[in-house]
Amino acid sequence: MALVDDFLKLDDVPVESSDARHKLPVRSATGPYVLATGKAADYRLHILHGLYGPGTRQLVIRAGLRRGMCVADVGCGVGMVTALLAGLVGPEGYVVGIDASAAQLNQARKRLPPRIDNIRFVEASATDTGLPPASFDLVYCRYLLIHLPEPERALREMWALLKPNGILVCEEADVTSAGSEPPSALDAFADLWGRLGPARGLDYTLGRHLFQMVQAAGFPAPDITFNQPVLAGGENKRFLELSVAEAGPAFVDAGLITAEALESTLAEMRRLNADETVLAVMPRMAQVWARKPALSPGGSR
Ligand SMILES: C[S@@+](CC[C@H](N)C(=O)[O-])C[C@H]1O[C@@H](n2cnc3c(N)ncnc32)[C@H](O)[C@@H]1O
Repeated sequence: MALVDDFLKLDDVPVESSDARHKLPVRSATGPYVLATGKAADYRLHILHGLYGPGTRQLVIRAGLRRGMCVADVGCGVGMVTALLAGLVGPEGYVVGIDASAAQLNQARKRLPPRIDNIRFVEASATDTGLPPASFDLVYCRYLLIHLPEPERALREMWALLKPNGILVCEEADVTSAGSEPPSALDAFADLWGRLGPARGLDYTLGRHLFQMVQAAGFPAPDITFNQPVLAGGENKRFLELSVAEAGPAFVDAGLITAEALESTLAEMRRLNADETVLAVMPRMAQVWARKPALSPGGSR
């Protein structure tokens, strides 16, 4: 805690990442991340939070988040969950949002409501944050591990960041569990993302194995539940279409679809978004939480 407090004193006000005081050394870029960053990412991540945010709120409270806690939001993106967590820990706690993308963090800073001063952002890789070990009461991530070639390394880092008895909370999806009822062009989301993973050495179905991964990272007795939103209409129904559009160039580059077929698929997905007889089934989110033992061999792994 003291170490993190010292670190946080480096910048008392949120600043642009061009300010050298704000930055830790960047250990890696976002690497194989195929989605947009910065302003271009903002709308889709807003939609994502509209879908999963209520479940996230329930989850972190159920996992043990309390006022006054020190929390890390790893792979924080444009800060949607970071702001939620900051509200829950209150002014006596704080949240550090960590992301490998400077553009995401700049957007996150712009998004922050005025007068929130219990959030800091750090540009760093999830696998090597450079933050002091054993400094956080709770470490959180959502839709991060599925984008990493070595998600186990990120879990090891999260273990290291946690204080003894600290709480890990991970929300990760299985993209192939998305679809529609009745079957329709909205199913292109599961098909394209499901085939992109092996082509890029990533596991976009990671949510299926998240429980076992958390166990393997050394956390005894994790808990798990699933959250799978289903929508007939409304703005958030656009999540499947927007995600296919953003990753479109990656699908085309990988030879999974032609540019022409992608364009017509997206047009049909947009039409279906407005058709309330067709249900959009969002990716099933595995929600896993666990405590680091109070006494663990060596303190960190
Ligand atoms: C799909 S977004 C999710 C953002 C946020 N967790 C949310 O749920 O709104 C994934 C985020 O992970 C970040 N990311 C990807 N690879 C990373 C890495 N190696 N280290 C840290 N962040 C990474 C991306 O820049 C992006 O902001």
